[in-house]
Amino acid sequence: MPKIFITGPIAENGLHILRQKGFSIEVNKSTNDLGDSELKKVFSEYDAIISMVNNTLDSEIIGRASANLKIISNYAVGVDNIDVSAAKQKGIIVTNTPGVANESVAEHVFALIFACSKSIIGADKFVREGKYQKWDPNLFLSHQTWGQTIGVIGLGRIGTFVGQIAYGGFRMKVMYFDVRRAEDFELICEARYGTVDEILKEADVVTLHVPLTDKTRHMIGREELKKMKNSAILINTSRGPVVEEEALVWALQKKEIAAAGLDVFEFEPKISKELLKLENVVVTPHVASATYETREAMSKIAAQNIVDVFEGKEPMGLVRS
Ligand code: GLV
Repeated sequence: MPKIFITGPIAENGLHILRQKGFSIEVNKSTNDLGDSELKKVFSEYDAIISMVNNTLDSEIIGRASANLKIISNYAVGVDNIDVSAAKQKGIIVTNTPGVANESVAEHVFALIFACSKSIIGADKFVREGKYQKWDPNLFLSHQTWGQTIGVIGLGRIGTFVGQIAYGGFRMKVMYFDVRRAEDFELICEARYGTVDEILKEADVVTLHVPLTDKTRHMIGREELKKMKNSAILINTSRGPVVEEEALVWALQKKEIAAAGLDVFEFEPKISKELLKLENVVVTPHVASATYETREAMSKIAAQNIVDVFEGKEPMGLVRS
């Protein structure tokens, strides 16, 4: 019976699928992440692994895989934590859970946009600190998001959802950049295709939805932040290293941009102290996809990917490159 190791607590429905198929399952129940030596041991002993985004599976760890290890099923949409080519070289299939997080992440994007634009955190603090003594028509004045311009950088499934909500829900003008044009999106959302530069210069809200690759690492640094409007908000729910954190701290300190809403960080879970001192940033701990709906869909697909591989079928989450 194939043995599966699961490096973190996944939703029950995926475990059920695997148990029904007769796989033997072991779940890391410790609250600590597995260290490199534990991961190497797991790789040398198991036939399939369900990994979490915070497991860095580099060529050294993958190099320890036993000849029986068939699949690394990542419990995530992104696979930047895995050296996919090292896995390929060893004949190990890598899979992800595509399409499960669109609604959840898009909702989180808007939660961050409004938390920033309406100073929700500051206003909450103000009330709790007993400062709300009388109604003041100028207190926490902000601009409407309605009708503003949003720039979506990276038009995958999540970026598309964000654009649709922006257009349909808030009548925002939508600009987007992707390596591919999306004429259907342009038509449906009256969206304008632009370069990253054009988006940075024109958008009131810039939201990042690119995967982390060598090309997108530090895609947003000092020069890019300087191009943004002083009134603009930057949202990052993609991957932390897409934004150079030091440059962002500088831009927020100097008010080069108005605010940032961040769910991911360059060195997460570490976050620079300077960033956390700032009031014009709203931070959440990589939870944009953390809804019951998304986790259940993730669990189902992560499990089914394994079942498919052991049944000789192509899994729906197959990562090709
Ligand atoms: C979460 O960050 C994911 O990639 O699913």
